Amino acid sequence: MNNIRNQNIRGLRVLVRCDLNVPINNGIVVDDFRIKKLIPTIDFLRENGAKIILITHLGQPKKKNLAYSVKPAAKRLWQLIGGRVKFISDTVGLRVEAEIRRMENGEVAVLENLRFYKGEIENSDDFSKRLSRLGDIFIQDGFGACHREHASIVGVPKILPSFPGLLLEKEIKVLSDALVLPERPLVSIIGGIKASTKIKVIKNLLEKSDYVLLGGKVANTLLTSKGIYVKDLMSSEEEELIEISKEINLFDPKLQLPIDGMMGLCNFDEEYIRIGGVGNVRNEEEIYDIGPETIEKYKAILREAKTIIWNGPLGYFEKEKFSNGTIEIAKMIGQNNHNVFSIVGGGETVEAIQKLGIEDQFDHISTGGGAMLDFISGKELPGIKALDYEN
Ligand code: 3PG
Repeated sequence: MNNIRNQNIRGLRVLVRCDLNVPINNGIVVDDFRIKKLIPTIDFLRENGAKIILITHLGQPKKKNLAYSVKPAAKRLWQLIGGRVKFISDTVGLRVEAEIRRMENGEVAVLENLRFYKGEIENSDDFSKRLSRLGDIFIQDGFGACHREHASIVGVPKILPSFPGLLLEKEIKVLSDALVLPERPLVSIIGGIKASTKIKVIKNLLEKSDYVLLGGKVANTLLTSKGIYVKDLMSSEEEELIEISKEINLFDPKLQLPIDGMMGLCNFDEEYIRIGGVGNVRNEEEIYDIGPETIEKYKAILREAKTIIWNGPLGYFEKEKFSNGTIEIAKMIGQNNHNVFSIVGGGETVEAIQKLGIEDQFDHISTGGGAMLDFISGKELPGIKALDYEN
């Protein structure tokens, strides 16, 4: 892969695809983790006299909708880097090109949301060309979006000389090292609610890990497949998930499922909570967190681990009464940090760790959610593959 450090970039317009898809409330960024992670790349480009043009998506708008404007993220970046950040209220076109021509070396501009143009997610050649007119070279530093085949991710690198940014390089190195030559035992933890995407990862992780610990909806699905957690009625979505899970060897001793759980009512309409074995779930109940015996079982495995990869909370942690499993496991890994190399990713898992204020106790917090999952499941990410393109 080409290296940006070997290039003379003084005076060049450097188009940087980043992932400033951050939570915003009333025009204020409520979590700036992804913005902070981009700063080493921006500092490097500023020190080397480039004109820095940042492009990103935010949310999933289908067309222009100012509720998804990138402006608050640009404002937060300005506060963080202590230098002017110019926000340009459009993404492509003659006006944007003219504003970029007026930029000084070392100046930073943030363009409006890429997804305001449908050519972005349609990966249209025309939109890729229009974006490419904004830069002399392209840097991919939006690891969190590299699993998408969008114009700014796979189209632009076909046109401009392209390089990985410092953040992308780090994400690739840390995650590859952990999967290829990990210090063992390697323990993977998978939780969260997006069971369909997570189930696909488990098969690959079972090949690479010494243990795979499960929580969240993905665990409930596999318990159902094993015939342990039985319900009278299943939704068609659940039935589909059970079908996908047949690809996994459910009796693999590396695969660790909860033995007990914190049950709540399916519709949450009461303060109901009950601890119970996973084989004793009542029809009106749902397992919303791992139970105390599972926490102890998982802790015993994690205590021996030398490498941990974690994606997805172990329960419905946004609800306090179902957050205990995630909190207990996070604290335990954090306290053991001198013995283990720990990687955490996925928006909700990172949020849980931030809430506890123990981010520093983890070795690497990935900016990728779905991208990290695809990476650890062995898929080639389109955004990374595109950088090998010969110009
Ligand atoms: C993420 O938050 O995982 C990335 O920014 C990708 O966002 P997307 O799922 O809307 O493509």
